[in-house]
Amino acid sequence: MKVISINGQILDLEKDAKISVLDRGFLYGDSVYEVTEVRNGKVGFLKAHLDRLQNSALKMHMHLQLSFKEYERRIIEVATRLHEAGHDRCYIRLVVTRGEGEITLDPQAASNQNVIIIGKELPENPTSWYDDGVEVIIASTLRNPVKSMDPNIKSGNYLNNILAYNEAKEAGYFDAIMLNQDGNVTECTTSNIWIVKDGIFKTPPIAAGLLKGITRENVIRILGKHGIAFEEVNFTGSELKDADECFLTSSTKYLVPIVKVDDTIIGNGKPGCKTLQVLDIFKSEL
Ligand code: PDD
Repeated sequence: MKVISINGQILDLEKDAKISVLDRGFLYGDSVYEVTEVRNGKVGFLKAHLDRLQNSALKMHMHLQLSFKEYERRIIEVATRLHEAGHDRCYIRLVVTRGEGEITLDPQAASNQNVIIIGKELPENPTSWYDDGVEVIIASTLRNPVKSMDPNIKSGNYLNNILAYNEAKEAGYFDAIMLNQDGNVTECTTSNIWIVKDGIFKTPPIAAGLLKGITRENVIRILGKHGIAFEEVNFTGSELKDADECFLTSSTKYLVPIVKVDDTIIGNGKPGCKTLQVLDIFKSEL
């Protein structure tokens, strides 16, 4: 089941949820978006998501036209419908496009942003992710350089990530890790990446070219609170393969253990116990 809101109006039928072909989100990926979950009617880290939406928009010189309160009201409206329909866990995607106008790259051709919220039921993550872990590849597609299209802008332009994800799919893997032009690890296609080596949790710095994930921030906070060693540091693909544990993080996936990268088994080939320990803390706080 999906509940869709377009510019404040809830559409009961998915087939009626349409926007113009002249919308710049459609034509150019000229939009920003956020994805979060709603659990038992509570929107996950809403303020952090709205802050990031605003930061993404400002980085592309787009000024959000609604107040945070109004985005929140519309999100809650969608979430409430889903909750009333009996869905305890839902996916929420908030998309703000620059709007519709003449076909030109000039952003000023559009003046009214389109605000789309797509809500749908989100089943609990498969237990196999935590029992067995997942396998990823290192993609040959590099992550966009920060000075070309900053990966820390959560825009609707995901072709870079789609190309990498497709490599993983075609090879029969769960997802792909993307490197930057220096050969350092950045992130996965819709999640951040972590390793544990000699008891230290490590994740690449934002300057490597990645999205400042909200789950990533929460894991950093949890590590600090529990006195667990942590470093924000660059590492290469081969350093990653030499890790004791590896995992990815995102708002809908939480922490997912990675047990194989390309042909290399990570650690003992089982989900790492430090990863699972932090996952438990993360889930206990939801
Ligand atoms: N993806 N990196 C990329 C490229 C992402 O698209 C995401 C989120 C993340 C993790 O960010 P967060 O912890 O805030 O969810 C990292 C969402 C879930 C998506 O596009 O579906």
